[in-house]
Amino acid sequence: MSIVRVNVPGGSYPIQIGKNILRQLGTSIPPDASAIVVLSNPTVRALHGDAALNALKVTGKDIYHFDIPDGEQYKNLDTLNSVFTFMLENKLDRKSVLVALGGGVVGDLGGFAAATFMRGIRFIQVPTTLLAQVDSSVGGKTAVNHPLGKNLIGAFYQPIAVDIDIDVLKTLPQREISAGLAEVIKYGLIMDSEFFDWCEEFADELIALEPEAITYAIHRSCELKAQVVEEDEKESNRRMILNFGHTFAHAIENGIGYGEWLHGEAVGCGMVQAAELSALVTQFPKEDVERVRALVEKIGCPTVAPTLGGNDKWFETMKLDKKATAGKIKFVVLDKIGQAKVQGAPQELVSLVLKNTTSADVETTSTSTASEVPKTVKAAAPEVVESTVVDSAEVAAEMARRAQMARDAGAGTGRTGGIYGVDGKRPDSDD
Ligand SMILES: NC(=O)c1ccc[n+]([C@@H]2O[C@H](COP(=O)([O-])OP(=O)(O)OC[C@H]3O[C@@H](n4cnc5c(N)ncnc54)[C@H](O)[C@@H]3O)[C@@H](O)[C@H]2O)c1
Ligand SMILES: [Zn+2]
Repeated sequence: MSIVRVNVPGGSYPIQIGKNILRQLGTSIPPDASAIVVLSNPTVRALHGDAALNALKVTGKDIYHFDIPDGEQYKNLDTLNSVFTFMLENKLDRKSVLVALGGGVVGDLGGFAAATFMRGIRFIQVPTTLLAQVDSSVGGKTAVNHPLGKNLIGAFYQPIAVDIDIDVLKTLPQREISAGLAEVIKYGLIMDSEFFDWCEEFADELIALEPEAITYAIHRSCELKAQVVEEDEKESNRRMILNFGHTFAHAIENGIGYGEWLHGEAVGCGMVQAAELSALVTQFPKEDVERVRALVEKIGCPTVAPTLGGNDKWFETMKLDKKATAGKIKFVVLDKIGQAKVQGAPQELVSLVLKNTTSADVETTSTSTASEVPKTVKAAAPEVVESTVVDSAEVAAEMARRAQMARDAGAGTGRTGGIYGVDGKRPDSDD
């Protein structure tokens, strides 16, 4: 077992990672807890619910369990209210502890329920998807969606413990593993070049969920995310680098409809695109772009994006990104592997990236079983671009001009629309 300790202003808590963690869940319950409520969904309950409930029996506390329906579309206020109703009907009080057993949907909604029930009760994250283990369970962001956008109603609220059992990943579809690994690689790219090298070396072991490799990958990912969160708990600047690849990814998810590609799959592809952009706007080496592409492909994520019917659609969506201000799109780019920063980019260069990383032949609909990676085509050999010297003063002037145009046009206001395939929607981030 390995432990990452998170220290944030609200307190300090351990993330425990390894085998048999679920069986020891009872040890994470504080002795003064009045009762335990396990929040899950029918899918996870059927696979891992008994193990969790049995492990909690040793506490001798009253245990309640409640399932929310499985799916992002249920991460909303109605479902949240059904959780509150269940807890109130069962007379759970402010000394009760909520255990969120599931992926990011259960974790985000459960965390927000804990943050607001009786003005806040203690909660434990038991993430069961790789994405939730390396991303959503760390950092204290909890939320539900609103018809006008994703994750718009929520709170920063830290758990008292995060218990990560690697064995639960064995029941996860391969596509979900690939999607989670994309976020793992992301941490190496933005913060730790040695970790990226390590991911390259042990990619096969990671895909096969070899225990030592996957435990280390989760440990290092949590440690790196915790480091950013500790520096910047309430999201201002530093935390933005966690958004690497996400500006492109959100445009893909938004453009083809949420749920067609898994979020992590879109992030994998988006990181290839962001690496290509980095090579144009920083000194990021072209060979390293190929390393990013090769690793994303190796873990089973798409590396070529759909055209979304043209660049206008891409730019329109990217302008809604949370990093954008007054219609000015910002990207997380790499100076080198392990070092990221946020900056704008000239539209011509972004267009060039889109030309080299999109194809009309990319399959955009999901497979029915979620077990196959969406079909993609190989990228056309990237066009050779002469090393472009970008004059920052010129770029700044151009961006200021566009920002003014956007302000004149009222961009950045009136973010309306639903989150599922409605035009004009706000493709806000999950992290
Ligand atoms: N809070 C944050 O910082 C943060 C960061 C990233 C993502 N998120 C949020 O996380 C959510 C996505 O999380 P997710 O990718 O885990 O999706 P998810 O919770 O929908 O889980 C994906 C699917 O896997 C199933 N599943 C879960 N564990 C399983 C297991 N062990 N075996 C088999 N099936 C299992 C689920 O029932 C679901 O069908 C989004 O709502 C996103 O906004 C939050
Ligand atoms: Zn993400």
